[in-house]
Amino acid sequence: MINLAKDFPILAQKVYGNRLVYLDNAATAQKPNSVIEAMSDFYRTEYSNIHRGVHYLSEISSEKYEEARKKASDLIGARDPREVTFTSGTTGSINQVARSLEPSLRGNEVLVTGVEHHSNIVPWQLAGAKVKAIPMDEDCNSLTGSMEITDRTKLIAITHVSNVLGSVNEIREITEIAKDHDIPVLVDAAQSIQHLPIDVKDIGCDFLAFSGHKMYASTGVGVLYTSYRFNDITPAIGGGGMIDKVTFEGSTYLPPPLRFEAGTPDIAGAISIGAAIDYMQNIGMDKIRKHEHEVYSYARDKLLEMDNVTVYGNAIQMCGAVSFNLENIHHYDTGLILDKMGIAVRTGHHCAQPLMRSLGIEGTVRASFALYNTKEDVDMLIEGIKKVEMMYS
Ligand code: ALA
Repeated sequence: MINLAKDFPILAQKVYGNRLVYLDNAATAQKPNSVIEAMSDFYRTEYSNIHRGVHYLSEISSEKYEEARKKASDLIGARDPREVTFTSGTTGSINQVARSLEPSLRGNEVLVTGVEHHSNIVPWQLAGAKVKAIPMDEDCNSLTGSMEITDRTKLIAITHVSNVLGSVNEIREITEIAKDHDIPVLVDAAQSIQHLPIDVKDIGCDFLAFSGHKMYASTGVGVLYTSYRFNDITPAIGGGGMIDKVTFEGSTYLPPPLRFEAGTPDIAGAISIGAAIDYMQNIGMDKIRKHEHEVYSYARDKLLEMDNVTVYGNAIQMCGAVSFNLENIHHYDTGLILDKMGIAVRTGHHCAQPLMRSLGIEGTVRASFALYNTKEDVDMLIEGIKKVEMMYS
């Protein structure tokens, strides 16, 4: 077992006199010293705007920003860094795609899975599309064989890993089917980029979105992978830095990635993504995944063993998050009492109301894991749950 909590200064503090057990990583993950330092060093000694100035600082900042793009591109196996755009996060990325594809989506259909986050539902509705869900079995596995593709299906948009259940969708199976129908596929990788290997060429998707803050980088920054096949789509956002020529009569745009990066981006945020990738790669991705798998399976097994605890979802592969409820105790109350013991979890519908409706519940308690969590954290959670149960008995 590895113990990486020492790299994360925030985890050293006590909460209500107890050791902090941070299990809200699907909402956002904490930052290691190396990421915090990369951002503060950048602001202290190198900061300027990018791609605009001829001066020394602008050149250094531009280089650092482009280095981060290359690291993100390599992380997801893109063919070329030009397929990687920095955005404001997963939600920003998906909304950008929705705006760009709006002419083909309006009045047509987008197919999603039954476990989607609202950010992979609402943007398509705003673009005038009807959202249809792939049917699920009682374990919340998508029944890809029952996917209903029609002439009006213009996009398949699927989450890789459910932010609520931790279930891993069979995205490869879905992209294969999509290819047969020549339908583009968008993958929401917000909950997978930090846990699973991702290769966009192997997945065969056209768009892939993720956030910096869930993978140990800053908030307000994320990535949108856009396959070169879509490099001439209309940009969703217009402004400085993305144009070829502008006249009052009309404008032409640069090729990607600048085409999709109007305005001054979150430069330090992008650099933090590069630093977070360095941090994970220095530890070793395989080592991290092995450790996370052990801690996650331990947590799920312990919860499944408990009487009066319902654990939701059961896919062949699971990672990151586990959702549960205690019998006759409201999820919100469970979360509040755990908090007083120093255990941070999320409660509620987790921005996945359609999934809650399918499960016939209003909300869950969700424990979600990162590379710094240990089996000891899981033991504290289980002890905490027992205490909650005792208070209600
Ligand atoms: N999408 C984040 C979560 O699942 C905020 O908590």
